[in-house]
Amino acid sequence: MSYISVVGGTGLKGEVCLQGSKNAALPVVAAAVLCNGTVTIKNCPDISDIRDLMQALSYAGIVSTLCDNVLELDTTGAKPVFFGPDLAGKTRGGVLLLGAFVGRFKEAGMAYPGGCVIGARPIDLHCKVFQRLHLDLREEEEGVFVKGTPKGARIVLPFPSVGATENAILASVCGRGRTEIMGAAREPEITELCLFLKHAGARIWGEGTSCLVIEGVPYLHATEYTLSGDRIVAGTYLAASMITGGEVVIRKTERVCMKGVLEPLRTMGAMIYREKELMYLHAPKVLQPIRFLETAPFPGFPTDMQSQTVALLSVAKGNSCICETVFESRFGVVPELLKMGADITCKDRCIFVHGKKGLCGTNVTASDLRSGAALVLAALAAEGESKISGCEYIARGYENICETLRGIGAKCSMREE
Ligand code: UD1
Repeated sequence: MSYISVVGGTGLKGEVCLQGSKNAALPVVAAAVLCNGTVTIKNCPDISDIRDLMQALSYAGIVSTLCDNVLELDTTGAKPVFFGPDLAGKTRGGVLLLGAFVGRFKEAGMAYPGGCVIGARPIDLHCKVFQRLHLDLREEEEGVFVKGTPKGARIVLPFPSVGATENAILASVCGRGRTEIMGAAREPEITELCLFLKHAGARIWGEGTSCLVIEGVPYLHATEYTLSGDRIVAGTYLAASMITGGEVVIRKTERVCMKGVLEPLRTMGAMIYREKELMYLHAPKVLQPIRFLETAPFPGFPTDMQSQTVALLSVAKGNSCICETVFESRFGVVPELLKMGADITCKDRCIFVHGKKGLCGTNVTASDLRSGAALVLAALAAEGESKISGCEYIARGYENICETLRGIGAKCSMREE
């Protein structure tokens, strides 16, 4: 079993080159299924979530290669298949293949993506979207099956689900007529998906707002697209430098929307400047607490930064409270931080953090992607060595995390037990 070894206590200083966005790459790769011919996606992160999706697509006859962050997908031989639990369950992005395949082949089938440690993650909203688009939906023991030609409809989402919005877009861009999606999620990654689809010939209006309008087109053509950087990874590296009292420049941040990510870091005392293609953070000597912060859909404080922020607050001077409103059980980081000496209690969906002067390095386990990143941050600030297992979760979303952190002075490496 591999683990990440971190010896804490070094202030991180230097430059990080930002990787492409995972949550933009996943729907864009799914959208490539709708395109005839070869799709080239540049600045694609080389992470296991993308590799798993490529593997799933290979079962459907789609040939893909990922080399030097350029992903090429050839959909010429694409055919509809049933994505079993081994393919569907690996990455949450897999659920988007339902919308993409029904959009192109008028049929799609997939095992239920299943729950995970951050919450049950049902797909009821995705199913309602398909039904609104006049598709036949069968929910059986082995999975969910969608069939028919998507026809324009007015879809009202009761909650701005990122995945359900993306599936609604994917299923309707090559459907018949006009679709309106009200209450759509506004995350920048959805805008990226829309921009990619428009490059390929789709007709979409309103990206970045909660009301999207789509006019179906008969087909999408081959295209090339460059993904923007990953706002959560940028936030994580800013936080890494901050928890160690360091100073960091993140490059390749043009087009990266940091709304909701930077405010909490500034409240904790960071000085952050942005120029066109870079972000600069100077950490305060002592981190300030945050009296109250709650996660929310974009443009609010992202749930994907919650665990990392809890790690920062565990060494802040004073008491903080963070409420998790998006995923009902995204608290996996808490028991592990307790092992490192943090003083944290949870009640209902709130995490109460009583900041302490220091943490102690020890053996901890990541239970999901962002809790893994948060534990790496905590270990960077802790005294002595920490061993973080469950690093396969971290590899889902961070490209070469150890190498990147070593580049700014961290004592950190991937090891085998
Ligand atoms: C996406 C992101 C994830 C991020 C999340 C919220 C990807 C690949 N993942 O996940 O990193 O943390 O948005 O910003 O882009 N829900 C339902 N029924 C549904 C769908 C969702 O109840 O049919 C609930 C979920 O259980 C969760 C909440 O809605 O509690 C938000 O989910 P959603 O916005 O859909 O997140 P994902 O698309 O899964």
